[in-house]
Amino acid sequence: MDVFEAIAKRYSYRGDFTDAPVPKEDLEKIVRAGIQAPSGKNEQVASFVIVDDRRLLDQIARIVNKPVCKTAKAMIGCVTDSRPILGDISFAVEDCAASVENMLLAITALGYATVWLDGVLRFDNIADRVGRLLGVPEGHTVRILLPLGVAAEPGSQKERLPFARRAWFNRYGG
Ligand SMILES: Cc1cc2nc3c(=O)[nH]c(=O)nc-3n(C[C@H](O)[C@H](O)[C@H](O)COP(=O)(O)O)c2cc1C
Repeated sequence: MDVFEAIAKRYSYRGDFTDAPVPKEDLEKIVRAGIQAPSGKNEQVASFVIVDDRRLLDQIARIVNKPVCKTAKAMIGCVTDSRPILGDISFAVEDCAASVENMLLAITALGYATVWLDGVLRFDNIADRVGRLLGVPEGHTVRILLPLGVAAEPGSQKERLPFARRAWFNRYGG
């Protein structure tokens, strides 16, 4: 699958996963794609915890309480370190997002499905609780969680606004 096909096929999956496992070598391939993303000043402040232990997966699923987590065969936690990189500017969010997009495309290209879980981590100390479970140190945050596996149901990307409403040559608004 080339990159444009992966971009077109990627979508947010929130259904059940089949019993098919996600082998460690695929998980490593996916996270290597995340590691290869650009980062501010190449400081690489995003790091990753790959969870494939059933007991831990169940514990995270209980904390996050989203149906998609219940049958996930693996999860990737994207952890940020918000230390300043340029003056007092942190690039943690940007680095993390770039890595996550690379991983979403790799997950799609390998035939798996996932969803970018972010909002849910920000309530009820869920990010901290998941972080503690995974041994994430002080000053680091689990910003994004990707539950993944083989989708049990079909799905597709949501519709986007037309190109002409979102992009223009040479001048904002055309
Ligand atoms: C910054 C960000 C935060 C997101 N947070 C969540 C989330 O907490 N839960 C969720 O189900 N989807 C989340 N998503 C997925 C979006 O809802 C999804 O990408 C959007 O609705 C478009 O659908 P598509 O990915 O299928 O095209 C998030 C996506 C982004 C980029």
